[in-house]
Amino acid sequence: MAMKRLSFSLFLLPFLLLAFVYSLFFPGDFSILPSLAARCSNSVAATPANATGPAVDLRVLLGVVTRAEMYERRALLRLAYALQPAPARAVVDVRFFVCSLAREEDAVLVSLEIIAHGDVVVLNCTENMDDGKTHSYFSSLPALFADAPYDYVGKIDDDSYYRLASLADTLRDKPRRDLYHGFPAPCHADPRSQFMSGMGYIVSWDVAAWVAATEALRGDVKGPEDEVFGRWLRRGGKGRNRYGEETRMYDYLDGGMREGVNCFRHALVADTVVVHKLKDRLKWARTLKFFNATQGLKPSKLYHVDL
Ligand SMILES: *[C@@H]1O[C@H](CO)[C@@H](O)[C@H](O)[C@H]1NC(C)=O
Ligand SMILES: *[C@@H]1O[C@H](CO)[C@@H](O)[C@H](O)[C@H]1NC(C)=O
Ligand SMILES: *[C@@H]1O[C@H](CO)[C@@H](O)[C@H](O)[C@H]1NC(C)=O
Repeated sequence: MAMKRLSFSLFLLPFLLLAFVYSLFFPGDFSILPSLAARCSNSVAATPANATGPAVDLRVLLGVVTRAEMYERRALLRLAYALQPAPARAVVDVRFFVCSLAREEDAVLVSLEIIAHGDVVVLNCTENMDDGKTHSYFSSLPALFADAPYDYVGKIDDDSYYRLASLADTLRDKPRRDLYHGFPAPCHADPRSQFMSGMGYIVSWDVAAWVAATEALRGDVKGPEDEVFGRWLRRGGKGRNRYGEETRMYDYLDGGMREGVNCFRHALVADTVVVHKLKDRLKWARTLKFFNATQGLKPSKLYHVDL
């Protein structure tokens, strides 16, 4: 009996050694950008895998496509997403995508952000080039995240605020292939000519892979980028599982604005998937307050804030 146990342990030894050596060389996990994945679970919305919690069955990458100099916006977005309740059973990673850092100050300051937050991806593109960034974005993803592909990937504006749990709930029972999700625009147009508005659209990973593999798209970039993306999918016969969230995706509106309600703009609602056109601090503040982000403020003698 003792002999048997001993030989069994000896049999296991090489495997244990191998696992040990492997863990030395690959201390993160299987994803590239390991520091990114590890750091961001706290700083930017994400649900870490948790052996005792409910199993994750949905992984979404939300890429905020922005410019290096948008420091304050990134700070606001980090705060906004860090204070959101984490979606159940889903990982939604919010990452910032910028083009190559051309200015001395951006190279330094964005590097510091990467060290502190690990949530910025620098694409090989040139800012000011008003075409081709969308193609650079989607086509870089399959290689960048080859080791840990997501189910879905979104391209979202930096003046958009997603409710990550609502988004995860709307995506959970949708097809994981050939999907195109967003706000169909223009509102009342023929669905065959609609495209998902640039406030934020989401496609399944296979669609991003198709964009990456289709070099011809790089030359077809005339027009507004969201419209161009819709045209790519239409011509390529991709993204046929289309889902619009018309009333849950909208432009911000409050009583102080001159604009009125229309098909893409209305007051904040509780079951929001995304609010768009958050162009200034006051709009962000009112939106975050509406979604109860300020409820976490604990009473203290150190401050007095009239909310
Ligand atoms: C795992 O999730 C459960 C409930 O979802 C939570 O109570 C627990 O603290 C989590 N554990 C870790 C290690 O995150
Ligand atoms: C940019 O290009 C370099 C060199 O070709 C490559 O190593 C790197 O992975 C690329 N970065 C992205 C984000 O695609
Ligand atoms: C904010 O909290 C209040 C009080 O708990 C609740 O009634 C309201 O529904 C919450 N708002 C949202 C948008 O979840």
